[in-house]
Amino acid sequence: MSRLFQATVIENRLLSKAHYLLTLRPLHKIQQPEPGNFFMLSVNKGNDPLLKRPFSIHQFCNGDIKILYRVVGKGTELLSNCSEGSTLEALGPLGNKFPAPSKKKRIILVAGGMGVAPLFYLAEKLKKRGPVFFYGARTADEVLLVSGLKTLGIIPTISTDDGSLGKKGNIISVLNKSMLQRSESCENLILYACGPEPMLKALSRLSNKLNIPCNVSVEQHMACGIGTCLGCIVKTHKGHKRVCREGPVFKSDDIVWD
Ligand SMILES: Cc1cc2nc3c(=O)[nH]c(=O)nc-3n(C[C@H](O)[C@H](O)[C@H](O)COP(=O)(O)OP(=O)(O)OC[C@H]3O[C@@H](n4cnc5c(N)ncnc54)[C@H](O)[C@@H]3O)c2cc1C
Ligand code: FES
Repeated sequence: MSRLFQATVIENRLLSKAHYLLTLRPLHKIQQPEPGNFFMLSVNKGNDPLLKRPFSIHQFCNGDIKILYRVVGKGTELLSNCSEGSTLEALGPLGNKFPAPSKKKRIILVAGGMGVAPLFYLAEKLKKRGPVFFYGARTADEVLLVSGLKTLGIIPTISTDDGSLGKKGNIISVLNKSMLQRSESCENLILYACGPEPMLKALSRLSNKLNIPCNVSVEQHMACGIGTCLGCIVKTHKGHKRVCREGPVFKSDDIVWD
């Protein structure tokens, strides 16, 4: 099955500030995306910018792809201007997926900022296992999907840098405190995370200290998305790896955090 396809923009809705929810309907059937996979999307009809941009799968409903994105530069600005009915070229699903937790494990999901996009999809897949969700953002306006998480039966623990919603401070400190208050051992826990690099680095330190396995989805600038340009390398203890092929999901203690 070819992974290059055209898709119609069904909806491109402003959620808050610079955050949009994009719904794409592929013109032909595509492979079912798994949590952790991503798509490379052309953000414009012409060839400026030339390169497609990577976005995680946020939801996949009846064949429609949902992408949750934040406008940060030229490409995402152009994407935000794509109107309903227009078509975009896409490539995917690409990359690896979050590994399935073994049956005994208690699942903790940790999202920072736009990391909530792929973790929501993972939460949806794991909802019967009652995952615990920690969610950090800069400010209240950037906390998304809380009602969606509630419909999955998940009440997230939220923190914001400025204290405008939930606890004040970074989400890893909040997670750390909650771990210290636990009476049970950490033996049966497993962590999944996506967010900014400093958050993932801090989480990696914490998971090492507590001896909890931790899987992180990392971001790098990408050009091809299919493993040929070597533009998305991450340093690991097993050598250099391509985020688009061997990742984006890695074991946190495999990564060399600078
Ligand atoms: C596997 C993967 C999944 C992603 N999933 C999502 C998602 O679900 N939602 C979402 O909003 N964003 C996601 N991103 C990030 C998204 O690809 C970038 O925000 C986007 O490419 C920026 O394009 P731009 O032209 O608007 O910005 P540019 O003008 O190219 O850059 C603007 C700013 O964003 C930074 N930036 C650009 N690309 C990246 C990147 N790949 N990683 C880190 N910083 C970057 C630049 O350094 C610069 O500071 C993902 C990235 C990867 C690698
Ligand atoms: S983006 Fe080209 S090798 Fe990963």
